[in-house]
Amino acid sequence: MTDPLIRCDETAAWAALRDHQQTAGAAFDLRQAFAADAGRAQALSLQAPHVFADLSKNLWDARTQALLLQLAAECGLQAHRDALFAGEPVNATEGRAAMHWLLRAPAAGPGASARPEAAEVQATLQAMLAYAEQVRADHTITDVVNIGIGGSDLGPQMAVKALAEHVAPGKHFHFVSNVDGHELDAVLKALAPEHTLFLIASKTFTTAETMANAQSAKRWYQQSGGNDIAGHFAALTTNVAAARSFGIETTFGFWDWVGGRYSMWSAIGLPIALAIGAENFRAFLAGAHAMDEHFRTEPLARNLPVQLGLLDVWYRNFKGFGSRSIAPYHAALNRLPAYLQQLEMESNGKRVDRAGRPLAVASSPVLWGEPGTNGQHAYFQMLHQGTEGVPLEFIAVREAAHGLPGHQPKLLANAIAQAQALMVGQPDPGGHKDFPGNRPSSFFVLERLTPETLGAFIAMYEHRVFTSGAICGINSFDQWGVELGKVLARDIEPRLATGDVAGLDASTAALVQRLGHKA
Ligand code: F6P
Repeated sequence: MTDPLIRCDETAAWAALRDHQQTAGAAFDLRQAFAADAGRAQALSLQAPHVFADLSKNLWDARTQALLLQLAAECGLQAHRDALFAGEPVNATEGRAAMHWLLRAPAAGPGASARPEAAEVQATLQAMLAYAEQVRADHTITDVVNIGIGGSDLGPQMAVKALAEHVAPGKHFHFVSNVDGHELDAVLKALAPEHTLFLIASKTFTTAETMANAQSAKRWYQQSGGNDIAGHFAALTTNVAAARSFGIETTFGFWDWVGGRYSMWSAIGLPIALAIGAENFRAFLAGAHAMDEHFRTEPLARNLPVQLGLLDVWYRNFKGFGSRSIAPYHAALNRLPAYLQQLEMESNGKRVDRAGRPLAVASSPVLWGEPGTNGQHAYFQMLHQGTEGVPLEFIAVREAAHGLPGHQPKLLANAIAQAQALMVGQPDPGGHKDFPGNRPSSFFVLERLTPETLGAFIAMYEHRVFTSGAICGINSFDQWGVELGKVLARDIEPRLATGDVAGLDASTAALVQRLGHKA
């Protein structure tokens, strides 16, 4: 997007969308919309690479979509998207490009990138995949422990779980993120040093939690008789020098233009490559690349990430929805909601625009969710009958990875039925059994959970977040909001030992005294 930054709320499209909501939008009813238009389901469905999306059960129509496209045009979405793919410093507060897409571009042929960084990307990928294959072939290594947090944990953990069907037998993957020693302690208790490989994953190699866990893992390894740090520790980082001074010789690097929450395609993806192998990891990248190309070239009206990002702006700002619930109907996607929380809320949970002006619009919603059908027996009550609507996102995978008879039709029937129930509702004059209906949902279908489909699906979310961020004028690639708490924790920690509460507010002081060291 070119300067001066356009404020989306000052565009003609924004005013027209507000009018549209106040007139047709407020009275919009999904049941009537389907009754009035036999082609609605088809018209509002999109097939993108590896991902089918039925967006017809959302509270929008052709007019809403036309106005949202006008909004995209007025806000310069295409120019901003082009800036992303041109490697311009779209992360202006850190003076960086955001080129996670380059990590997935093929080495040669159609879609290969002519950027100077491409050669180094390919060389690093090759080295990392060769290492992954070597470890996969080494039967003495039975346990791989990834130590990292945020983007250095959530993406790889989500993907390794999602692709369990493809994971090498005989290897167990553990993810330790929390500085809470209970987590590392529980993992270490079940390990033998000679059979364990630790991956220390940290873009900066300074993150307090990861450094504490890495130090403890190293101490445990040495105290348990391990004497081959080089063979049992590898670092995934942009800060190779810090990893070396920690004592790690095997390192795989990446670059400052890869944001933490966009980094599972880089060396941070090593646990994924170890789990599923080089060929599958390349398929994972290829799936994401196919979605990159779709996002980069498809007209906005048929562009799935764009349509989703625009829908998100519509829901957050004109429909007043403050949250979105993710319902993956595949147990292997159980970490998807947590991964998406960081992707969306750390990217777009901002209160100023790229020019530093206070936002006049609402930014990221709260994302939350659990795999179906579990959520149905927990919080779906609120989704069906609560006082607030929450847009729901169903993710169904047609083919199961198991052979247990009867389960898959039951699972898929539940996903379809829940979306139907939310929309159609059921009147009850008595009140208690009344389902108001007209509650929105999107429905995604993947044929099967494979490296390729997962790659495409995740890239779709990345570009969706970029789209809604771009419309709101946000820098989706920085995360200054995480810093203050880190600084204050560094101040509090020694106070717990000394009991010094000077300068603290009364509540914080009392908590330090209550939780601090007792003489
Ligand atoms: O504190 C937030 C954050 O900076 C995330 O953005 C990042 O993914 C995470 O910490 C981990 O950072 P690193 O990979 O540098 O350890």
